[in-house]
Amino acid sequence: MNSTIETILNHRSIRSFEDTPLEDKTIRTLIESAQQASTSSYMMAYSIIGVTDENKKQALQEISGHPHVTNNGHLFIMCADYRRITYGMDEEVRDDVEKNLENTEHLMTAAIDAALAAQNMAIAAESMGLGMCYLGSLRNDITKTDEILNLPGHVAPLFGIAVGVPAEQPEKKPRLPMEAVYFENEYKEHKDIIEEFNQNISDYYASRSSNQRRDTWTLQMQRRFKKPVRMDVTDFLKSKGFNKR
Ligand SMILES: Cc1cc2nc3c(=O)[nH]c(=O)nc-3n(C[C@H](O)[C@H](O)[C@H](O)COP(=O)(O)O)c2cc1C
Repeated sequence: MNSTIETILNHRSIRSFEDTPLEDKTIRTLIESAQQASTSSYMMAYSIIGVTDENKKQALQEISGHPHVTNNGHLFIMCADYRRITYGMDEEVRDDVEKNLENTEHLMTAAIDAALAAQNMAIAAESMGLGMCYLGSLRNDITKTDEILNLPGHVAPLFGIAVGVPAEQPEKKPRLPMEAVYFENEYKEHKDIIEEFNQNISDYYASRSSNQRRDTWTLQMQRRFKKPVRMDVTDFLKSKGFNKR
């Protein structure tokens, strides 16, 4: 196994960091790594905001509810971004372009581009011995997150990435069996595999070193999806010129 794969297979989210800010050259390496990810049609449809202002970090932590939003080596926020594509564009096509950007397809493209860049950053960070945790919880109040970052039209916050020197080493979290995520040629129902996985994951939750509980993956999903969540996101995205049709 080579060291890249070892880094990838050693991943676990880190939610407790030493009080050590990342050096500028580390931040630049992480951004450069993110930028080298493949990007749909060379659109590079994302921006990354580094948040260093303590008041902003505090406000973002209140939205997220997670202490690792303020306690980290550096906080990055990944945003979908089509703002720059109209810079300098011919006036006569601008209206058509803005109308076309309303298509859900373009929001998907920006979210995919941003996620690929983010995961490049995550692997780069972990390869340097740093830890990281994604922060979708910034969408608990997406409008407020947007305001804090002062994002213009056609730019929307997607998720954060807290990076820093790990102050914990949690166990690796088990993943679904490969037979539940990889199929040849066509989709295959796999209820029995999930039942077996639930048994295994319940043993993991009962025996792990911290935050032990009785739980299964299906119960987790049931709790997650039985109530509506973040119902304001659709209208917010529409207000930014995304996902209107
Ligand atoms: C898009 C995304 C958003 C996430 N948001 C949060 C978050 O807001 N807070 C948090 O503590 N973890 C967050 N996570 C981390 C997941 O909970 C974690 O990756 C998952 O439970 C698997 O654990 P592992 O990364 O340790 O293997 C997020 C992960 C992703 C991919």
